[in-house]
Amino acid sequence: MGCSLMLVCLCFNFYIYPLLSSSSSSSASAAASASASATGLQSEVDSISGSLYPEILRDEAVSRLYQLGKVSDAEDYLERTFMSPAAVRAGYLIRIWMEDAGLRTWIDHMGNVHGRVDGLNPSSKALLIGSHLDTVVDAGFFDGSLGIVSAIAALKALRVGGTLGRLVRPVEVIAFSDEEGVRFQSTFIGSAAVAGILPDSALQYSDKSGATVQEVLQRNSLQATKENLHQLKYDPDSVWGYAEVHIEQGPVLERVGMPLGVVKGIAGQTRLKVTVRGSQGHAGTVPMSMRHDPMVAAAELIVLLENVCKHPEDFLSFDDHCKDSSVQSLSGSLVCTVGEISPWPSASNVIPGQVVFTVDIRAMDDMGREAVIYEFSSRMYQICDRRSVSCNLERKHNAGAVMCDPELSTQLKSAAHSALRKMTNELDSEVPVLMSGAGHDAMAISHLTKVGMIFVRCRGGISHSPKEHVLDDDVWAAGLAVLAFLETHM
Ligand code: GLV
Ligand code: MN
Ligand code: MN
Repeated sequence: MGCSLMLVCLCFNFYIYPLLSSSSSSSASAAASASASATGLQSEVDSISGSLYPEILRDEAVSRLYQLGKVSDAEDYLERTFMSPAAVRAGYLIRIWMEDAGLRTWIDHMGNVHGRVDGLNPSSKALLIGSHLDTVVDAGFFDGSLGIVSAIAALKALRVGGTLGRLVRPVEVIAFSDEEGVRFQSTFIGSAAVAGILPDSALQYSDKSGATVQEVLQRNSLQATKENLHQLKYDPDSVWGYAEVHIEQGPVLERVGMPLGVVKGIAGQTRLKVTVRGSQGHAGTVPMSMRHDPMVAAAELIVLLENVCKHPEDFLSFDDHCKDSSVQSLSGSLVCTVGEISPWPSASNVIPGQVVFTVDIRAMDDMGREAVIYEFSSRMYQICDRRSVSCNLERKHNAGAVMCDPELSTQLKSAAHSALRKMTNELDSEVPVLMSGAGHDAMAISHLTKVGMIFVRCRGGISHSPKEHVLDDDVWAAGLAVLAFLETHM
C-alpha cells in the first residue's frame, strides 16, 4: 500500500479533448463547419500551393490499402505477424511502391523496409516517416498500413510534381516489421532496433512454436546477430525527427466531425503474462472441495483486474498531499485488458493443470500504471494462496508514456490544417489535439529523436477488427497532410 501511495502521488497526467462542437457528418467538408480560430496559420497555409493529387493520394492509396489488406497468412481474415510469410510478401510490395515513388530501398536485419530520398543535402539530418506493416489477428486494413501508404503516396506526388529532389533534407519512409507484438509478445521489435533500445536478448524471444526472433529472421536470409542489431541503431545526430500518420482507433475525431487530428501524447503500456498452476484431474471424479483449479483462480484474477482498473480509487491508497485528484486523473486514461487465455490441456472433461493469460495495462500516468501493477500482483498472490494454486507474473513488455514534440506537432497541425483547407476551400477549422491510448512505433522512436503524429478518423472509432474503416476522402486528407508537411522541408 505504501508503494501505491508513493507511486500515485508522483503521477502527472491529463487527457485532452478538442474544444469543438460535435458533428455527425463524416465527409471532409464537415471540417469546414467546425468553428475555431485558425488565423495564426493563415500565412503558413497560404505559402503552400499545389495540386490535390486525388489520383495518387486518394485513389491509388486506397487501392494499395485494400491490396495490402489481402496480404494475409489466413484465408478468411487478415493476419500478418512479425516475419510471417504474408509479412514478407507485404514488405516486398511496399518496397515496390517505395521505388515507384522514387525512393532508394533496402530491408534491414530486423525486417524493416526502408525507402529514402536524399534531397539537396544528403548529409543533413533526415526526416523519418513511418508506421508498421504487421497486424493483429483478424485485423482491419488501416492500422499501420495507412501511415506507410500515405507517406509513400505523398512522396510519389512530389516525384510526379517534379519536386522530390528539392527536399532540403533526406526523407526516409520506414515500414516497421513489428508494432503489434502478436507473435513474440514484445511490441516494437523493428522500431526499437532502429532507436537502439532493443535488448540483445530480444533475438532469443520465442513464439508459440518455440522459434526465436533470430531463427525466423534467418529463415528469411536476414542475419540477425548481436553485431548486426547494434548496427541498426540510427545515430541521433543523423536524424531530424519522426512523423507518423495513424488511424485514431478511437471515436473522438468522428464525434467532432474532423478527418484529421494531432497527437499530444501516447499512453504508457505494460504487458504481463500470468501463469496459474493447479492440479490437473478428471472432471467427473474430483470432488469440488478437493480441487485446485487454475481456471477458476484465473477467472477471479481477471475480475480483480477489472475492478482495480474500473475503480482504482477503491484499491490505491494515497496520502493527504495527493488526495483524490491523482487517482481521478489516473482513472481518466487507465484501461486493462485480458485478451488471450490458454488452458492446458484444454479439454472439456479435464480440470486444467495450468492456465496462462495475458494482461495489457495502459495509462498516461507511468507511476499510476506501476501502482496498478503492484496492487494487482499483491492481491493476485493472496488469491492464489487462498485457492492453493501457484501464480507467476512476468513482465513481457513495458513502454513509458510519451509526449510528442510541441514544435513538430505544431508543424503537423499546420500541415493537417492546410490539407483540410485545400479539400474544403475554407479556413475555418481547428485541428483537434488528442491523446493516444493505443501504442505506436513513435513510442520507440522517441528514444532516438523528437516525434509527432497525425491521427486519421476511423468509422465508429473501431480498430483491431475487420470492421475498421477509413473514408477514401480521409485517406486523401492524410496524404495531403503529409505532402504539406514535406513541402515545409523544401
Ligand atoms: C497496438 O495497436 C497497440 O496499441 O496495442
Ligand atoms: Mn498500429
Ligand atoms: Mn494495432
